[in-house]
Order: sequence, then structure tokens, then C-alpha cells
Amino acid sequence: MFKSLWLWLGRVLGKLLLLVLLLGLGGWLIGSLYYGWKFSGPVSTEEHIPPAEAALTQSIIEDAIRVVEQHRDNTRVLRDAHAKAHGCVRAQVTVSPQLPASLQRGVFAEPGKTWQAWMRLSNGNAYPQFDRVRDARGMALKLLDVPGAKLSGGAAHSTEQDFVMFNNTTFFVRDVAEYKSNFAAQANGQKVLAFFPSWDPRTWEVRHLIIALQTLSAAPQSPLATTYNSIAPFKLGEHNIKYRVTPEPQACPDYQVPEQNQQLPNFLRAALYQQLSLDRAPACFALQVQVQNPQLYMPIEDTSVQWQESQAPFQTVASIFVPGQDFDSREQNLMCDNLSFNPWHALPEHRPIGGINRLRKAVYEAVSSYRLERNQP
Ligand code: HEM
Repeated sequence: MFKSLWLWLGRVLGKLLLLVLLLGLGGWLIGSLYYGWKFSGPVSTEEHIPPAEAALTQSIIEDAIRVVEQHRDNTRVLRDAHAKAHGCVRAQVTVSPQLPASLQRGVFAEPGKTWQAWMRLSNGNAYPQFDRVRDARGMALKLLDVPGAKLSGGAAHSTEQDFVMFNNTTFFVRDVAEYKSNFAAQANGQKVLAFFPSWDPRTWEVRHLIIALQTLSAAPQSPLATTYNSIAPFKLGEHNIKYRVTPEPQACPDYQVPEQNQQLPNFLRAALYQQLSLDRAPACFALQVQVQNPQLYMPIEDTSVQWQESQAPFQTVASIFVPGQDFDSREQNLMCDNLSFNPWHALPEHRPIGGINRLRKAVYEAVSSYRLERNQP
């Protein structure tokens, strides 16, 4: 009696498992076919600005200021994103001596030229958390003494060219409208439901939820040991490009930063301090660009889509050298906090493009002014 019951249960469970497997396979097949169809070129090489974008941007600025106020500490108003710095370090950016003529644009116009720069390394969260908490890690680079009129920033930023990145390849929303609705839902505590705005399955953003989860990744060994991506597209002269900064240890003397105690709250700053200040070991990176091929699926207006490296390989346009140095002083940390990075601190040859970049222009300016006006210099 018991034997036949077990056999029956086994058969039912076996069939159930098979059904789940078949459903999973079917879902995967349909998904692949759908995305294969949806994510196919050609795409536009131009920006397309939705009519509602300006109004949405204004309300996102108000949301951002609210977040800044929620997270301010007793003495300082912090950034709305990437509030915690591991340090600001000096760097030298040298344009590749062999750069092809077609990429010699903007700050890369003169092969062999070296720019002095500031590099700020950060965690992504609006709140300064322990470094072991899963998070995005940011790198912002500011080239100094860059001549020529800039797109934004006024007199204070008139000689700067900024590159602002973090260490994921995609952003968890495609455009300004989705940013607004997602942000609003998250602010109401709906971390996962933000990606399922209604009962209609056509509004579900499962792929974007996966990107959000990927973005919150474990900390690297050191802020100098991960690849940082622009995620959003930019001009490079007549080209549309995305850029990234990736470690190039072979360009530097051999060095391995000793493993840090990840239970300590600021072990990423400790890793930076150990390499640059104690061991005096420099760090090397390559600054690279990939050029849009509009025949393939490399959209301008969707930051949730990666431009595949297999279709648009990265080419090195400059090398970055971070020399051994002292950086962890009161004065330099304060200076670092008072810096403002903005992808629109840029020459017209490096114009940011796409909705998320248009949004960033207004939001970074507003949040930066808000916090700098309230903080002691
Ligand atoms: C491609 C997508 C994005 C990337 C790669 C990115 C990266 C970064 C990084 C690295 C920083 C720190 C800059 C520093 O070290 O001072 C930063 C700051 C900031 N980000 Fe983003 N971000 C992106 C999208 C956005 C969006 C969509 C918003 C909001 C609408 C936003 C709002 C901010 C704000 C307000 C700051 C602080 C600005 C300041 O106070 O100076 N970011 N971002």
C-alpha cells in the first residue's frame, strides 16, 4: 500500500518537474526570440527628446534634494549619489601616441599629450555605508587646464573635462520616464515592486530588475581593481561612443595590494592608502572608447542596453597613471568633498547624449549647488 503510494507520488513529482523544466525552457526560448527581435538594428544616430522630459526632470530634482536632506549628517550635506569617497587622488592622463586620426577629437586631439587630473573613487549609495555592503563603485575623473568653451558649469568649471562612471555596464532604467516612476516606487519602499508597476505583464521590467541586482555587487579588492563604465553614450567629435576606464597592471611595476580586512568599514580607502601612500606603488589604467555601429542594436536612448564588445570593441585612447602619493589628509578630503563632477563639464566634442545624460545635467547642477551652498568651504 505504502509502496504504491510512494511510486505514485514519485511519478507525480517527476511529471511536475518535467512540466516546470518545459515551462522554463519555453520561457527562455520565447524571451530569446523576443529580445532577438526587439534588440535588432538599425538604430538612430540622433537623440529623440520626449515632450514630457523637461517636466519630469524638474520633479526628479525635487526628489533628489529630498534624498540629500534625508541623508545629511550633522555637519555636511552629502552627494545624492556616490556620497562616500574612498579618496581623491592625483592622476595623469596621456593620449595614446598611436591614436588613429579618426579618434583624435576633444581632449584626445593631440597624441602624446599629458593632462593632469583629479580622480574621485566612491561607493554608489546615497548613504555612506560599510564598504562590504553590496553596491556600485564609482570613478569620476576631472582633467584640468583644458582650454576651450564648455557645455556647462560656468566660470568655476571652465577649464575642466569630466568623465563620470561606475562599475556596471548597464543602468537599471532605460530613460527619464522610467527613472521617475522607478524612483517614486523605491522611495515608497517598493524595492522590487518598482519593476512591476501594474498588473499588465507588458509593463514588467524583469530585465531591469536583474540589472539593478547586478549593480549592487560585492566590493572589489581595491577601488583601483575594477572597470568603470560610462554606461550612457557621448559624442567623440562626429562619432557616438561609450567609454570605460579599465585597470592595466601590465603598464605598471608588478604589485598586488595585500588582502584587506573586509570587516572594517572603510577597507577600500585602506587598500588605496596601502598601495599609493604606504607601498608607494602606482596604478595604471586604460581609457577606452567603443564607437556606435548604428546598423546593430546600439541605442542612444536606452541606458539599460549594453553595446556588445563583440560588435563594438573598445579601443584605448589614453593611458591613466596614478602615482604613489599621500592623499588622506584633512585638507585633501575636504577639497574632494567640495569638488563637483558632471558629465556636462565638457567640451562640445565630448557632448553627453541620450535621455539619462540630459537628466543628469540638471540634477547634478542642482544637487551640487545645494550642497556646496550649505557646506563650509
Ligand atoms: C549613466 C548613469 C550614471 C553614472 C555612470 C553615474 C555615476 C556617478 C558618479 C560616479 C558620481 C560621483 C561623482 C563624484 O565623484 O563626485 C555620481 C554623482 C551623482 N549622480 Fe550619478 N550616475 C549616473 C546616473 C545618474 C542619474 C540618472 C542621476 C539622477 C537623476 C544621478 C544623480 C547623481 C547625483 C545627484 C550625483 C551627485 C552630484 C554632486 O552632488 O556633485 N546619476 N554619479
